[in-house]
Amino acid sequence: MKLSGKVAAITGAARGIGKACAKRFLDDGVKVVISDVDADGLAATAAELGRPDALRTVVGNVARRPDVDQLVATAVKEFGRLDIMVNNAGVARNQDILDITEQDFDEIIGINLKGAFFGVQAAAKQMIAQGGGGVIINMSSVNALLAIPALATYAMSKGGMKQLTSVAAVALAPHNIRVVAVGPGTILTDMVASSIYTSEDARKTVMSRTPAGRGGEPSEVASVVAFLASDDASYITGQTIYPDGGRLVLNYTVPVKEK
Ligand SMILES: NC(=O)c1ccc[n+]([C@@H]2O[C@H](COP(=O)([O-])OP(=O)(O)OC[C@H]3O[C@@H](n4cnc5c(N)ncnc54)[C@H](O)[C@@H]3O)[C@@H](O)[C@H]2O)c1
Repeated sequence: MKLSGKVAAITGAARGIGKACAKRFLDDGVKVVISDVDADGLAATAAELGRPDALRTVVGNVARRPDVDQLVATAVKEFGRLDIMVNNAGVARNQDILDITEQDFDEIIGINLKGAFFGVQAAAKQMIAQGGGGVIINMSSVNALLAIPALATYAMSKGGMKQLTSVAAVALAPHNIRVVAVGPGTILTDMVASSIYTSEDARKTVMSRTPAGRGGEPSEVASVVAFLASDDASYITGQTIYPDGGRLVLNYTVPVKEK
């Protein structure tokens, strides 16, 4: 219970990794405000997680600054402060780089990168106003470093997030605010089902790049988030930590022997 008594806000938490982070935080004694653009999904997740004593919801689109500000304001109104911000909301669009329109570019970068930037600013302003200290965690991806041509906008957004994390970490260190990122490999969520595992061949290709021999569980990302949010990670800032089943260190491919 190293996080007991802290207050966290999480974007994109109606399902997948964000929902797993909310569950982990609640289990660890954190008071949590979850946000998502999907109002019905958010309500269903809140009902499933229970814990009306420690959980609040705010419907919002991270690409809109007032919605992100509202999330932080709700944490302060409901629980008095904000200690942990998880900028998790993200989308991937599978398309050939030559087909990407200006609208596609603006939408994906607007949610994944600009949304995280709004989250960094809103959280940092509140953390500074309450005297400094706190942790901001951006949900990046192995695609911050690797290139999948079918996910060009996604890779560009996560590459930008790597520098958002570094720059904000340096800028906010004087306020004792740590800024870190988590860069998962392939985690078994709806996003992977719709954008990555588009066929059995596609799934096998992913496995040939996954030494662990399996996709990751959302809870295996949430546990990294919980570590980074805790004082056990007190000297880590500006870094991206990659729970990726060995993908980034693999030079070639591995035989597909599923676990
Ligand atoms: N699943 C993976 O393999 C994987 C790998 C690396 C990184 N990630 C990152 O993890 C994060 C969560 O991904 P996931 O796999 O849980 O995806 P998911 O699609 O299961 O969940 C994403 C959530 O974000 C919400 N969302 C989408 N657009 C939003 C917006 N504009 N404002 C607020 N909420 C919005 C969705 O409604 C959804 O609830 C994303 O940033 C993603 O890029 C996922």
